[in-house]
Amino acid sequence: MSTIFPRWTNALPTVMAAALVGGLTLVVGGVWYYVTPKYWEVGYMPTQPGGGFSHQIHAAQLGMDCRYCHTNVDKSAEANIPSAATCMGCHTPGLLQVSSRSAEHNAKVGFIRDAYATDDPIPWRRVHKLPDYVRNFPHHAHVTAGVSCLSCHGNIARMPVVWQHESLSMGWCLDCHRNPEPSLVAREEVTRLFDLEPKFEPQNAAARLAEGKKFWEERKIAAPENCGACHY
Ligand code: HEC
Ligand code: HEC
Ligand code: HEC
Ligand code: HEC
Ligand code: HEC
Repeated sequence: MSTIFPRWTNALPTVMAAALVGGLTLVVGGVWYYVTPKYWEVGYMPTQPGGGFSHQIHAAQLGMDCRYCHTNVDKSAEANIPSAATCMGCHTPGLLQVSSRSAEHNAKVGFIRDAYATDDPIPWRRVHKLPDYVRNFPHHAHVTAGVSCLSCHGNIARMPVVWQHESLSMGWCLDCHRNPEPSLVAREEVTRLFDLEPKFEPQNAAARLAEGKKFWEERKIAAPENCGACHY
């Protein structure tokens, strides 16, 4: 007796099971993608090349201004990461007292000297990244309007390794655009994160708002809420 069902149907249960699992994965994946709150990206902290770069050492201990390295942040839409040449201004062998002293230090900065010698960029991993369907984020417009690095990146000078402090979601952009006053600071303070930190404490909210309102009027701030400002 031959079978009622052709031979290939033996594979049917397997195929159906696979399809079911595949379908489930899609559904779960889809739901996961849509319901995952964007603030889950807060805290994103990729491992950086070499031993990494410490903002705590350079910006806090050594007191370097952010713009010593991020030279474009108030000049163009794109903020920039400094090249190895900027680092070599201090990390050329023998230049820093500390580097001529300690073999341990020389080992830690070896990756910078290697990159410089071979003319290769240091492959830093990007931390903050908006999706491609968002128009080029205008860094300079924010910094020159007097929005501090603190409002959008947290106190980077406290970070031995940079991590994402804010959600960077559309709601986050719009919350500030609808109500920018409390985020406006004196222009000379935009990079002075330790001076600003206490001013942003909740108990100083009223004073901040009063100061921010003054800046808002003086600078004729108009933060866009129309879709075309941020989308193509
Ligand atoms: C000595 C140079 C130097 C100084 C000074 C400096 N940075 Fe950086 N910064 C870097 C380098 C190098 C990176 C890339 C490596 C990393 O992300 O840790 C970086 C990364 C960053 C990033 C993350 C970029 C990304 O991938 O999204 C932010 C934000 C940032 N810096 C803000 C600041 C702020 C704010 C200050 C001032 C308080 C500052 N930096 C001072 C060199 C510097
Ligand atoms: C203005 C001078 C200066 C510049 C510019 C500079 N550094 Fe440094 N860096 C120092 C000093 C000083 C130390 C030593 C701090 C210590 O050991 O107390 C240091 C230490 C380091 C260390 C060792 C950290 C550790 O844990 O001991 C690394 C890695 C480093 N720097 C990377 C960089 C990179 C990458 C750049 C360029 C983006 C850079 N530095 C630019 C002055 C500088
Ligand atoms: C209004 C919010 C806002 C302010 C203020 C701000 N940033 Fe950013 N920053 C961002 C966003 C958003 C990105 C990611 C942009 C993108 O993906 O196009 C970013 C990216 C960066 C990067 C990475 C650039 C790259 O190409 O890897 C650096 C460095 C940086 N910011 C430094 C600073 C410094 C320094 C300040 C203060 C002087 C500052 N930012 C102020 C929101 C801000
Ligand atoms: C903490 C406050 C704050 C956050 C967060 C913020 N912005 Fe803004 N943004 C401003 C202010 C203030 C202005 C107005 C500048 C002016 O009037 O000179 C502005 C202006 C702009 C402009 C118009 C620039 C121009 O040249 O007129 C764009 C585009 C923009 N923001 C995009 C974004 C996007 C995209 C995000 C989120 C990823 C964002 N902003 C997050 C405060 C903020
Ligand atoms: C101030 C800047 C800004 C404005 C104005 C703005 N958007 Fe967005 N939008 C963003 C950013 C930033 C994202 C990416 C957020 C993320 O990564 O989740 C986004 C994401 C989106 C998405 C993707 C959905 C999602 O959450 O993943 C849609 C759709 C969208 N915007 C539509 C609009 C429409 C429609 C308008 C006008 C009513 C608008 N946007 C106005 C900044 C803006």
